[in-house]
Amino acid sequence: MELRGKTAVITGGASGIGLATARQFAASKMNLVLGDIEDGPLQVAVDELRAGGARVIGIQGDVSKEDDVIAMRDAALAEFGAVQLVFNNAGVGGGPAIATPKKVWDWVLGVNLDGVINGVNAFVPLFLEQNEGYVVNTASEAGLVGVGGMGPYCASKFAVVGLSESLFHELAMTGKDVHVSVLCPNFVRTRIYESQRNMPRDLVSYNESPMVQKGMKLAKQAVDAGIDAADVARAIEDAVASNEYWILTHQHSAIAITEQRLEWMRGGRVPFANLGVKAPS
Ligand SMILES: NC(=O)c1ccc[n+]([C@@H]2O[C@H](COP(=O)([O-])OP(=O)(O)OC[C@H]3O[C@@H](n4cnc5c(N)ncnc54)[C@H](O)[C@@H]3O)[C@@H](O)[C@H]2O)c1
Repeated sequence: MELRGKTAVITGGASGIGLATARQFAASKMNLVLGDIEDGPLQVAVDELRAGGARVIGIQGDVSKEDDVIAMRDAALAEFGAVQLVFNNAGVGGGPAIATPKKVWDWVLGVNLDGVINGVNAFVPLFLEQNEGYVVNTASEAGLVGVGGMGPYCASKFAVVGLSESLFHELAMTGKDVHVSVLCPNFVRTRIYESQRNMPRDLVSYNESPMVQKGMKLAKQAVDAGIDAADVARAIEDAVASNEYWILTHQHSAIAITEQRLEWMRGGRVPFANLGVKAPS
């Protein structure tokens, strides 16, 4: 897709990968709608991009709510007349698979999976109607391998990979100029380890448990050692420009871990995947 002059809606656009991609798309002269649950950082992001000459608006909203995502799409249509790209990117981390309260599972799945479902439902019919559109869904390398310590997160990201793959085949069958990519990064330096800042108020006490505190500390260490979000943004733009389905920013580890899972399925060794724990040599 030629990006210049087109309009993109980016969820989770006020921070991290979403904001870096907004900067990348702005440099390529796209119009932008940033959707985010955090109003203050959203305004800061919009002001920064406008100061750089971009045409951009910010819409505060929660991607787990269908109406909020529809409002982001409608705001894009009202402001720019058309929309050609949606980046379903907003996401949060959660606790382990063991003993995480159901409400925390619901929050993680609500943002990471329902957010993508809402984006697909709001935008794909429009894209098919106009015979032009591009969907980028943020999953994770944790959508390619189950990682100890990240149960709800892995469940949501595996689901996003599956959903995106189904969408890829369905779109191919339509024969229309509408495409999808799935983003599966390993660690990227963002605020993902502070996801609890957006947790519903009644769940916040969950973060006080020593096990959750330990998980957040390990997540921070891993994220701080990750790649720059600007590198991810460049990979996204390249994938959209060349219509590549898989966006594997850490191609070596993504393929290695997938091969290790295949070996496991064939009766071989169990892959080693635990948050913050080094593999035994
Ligand atoms: N950082 C990593 O190491 C990494 C690796 C793989 C995948 N990802 C994925 O990348 C995506 C972006 O995360 P990030 O790393 O940039 O983290 P981040 O915390 O810096 O940015 C996430 C953004 O999403 C917003 N958000 C949270 N809940 C929301 C909701 N309900 N509705 C709307 N917006 C909401 C936050 O306010 C924030 O601006 C996520 O889907 C995440 O799972 C991150």
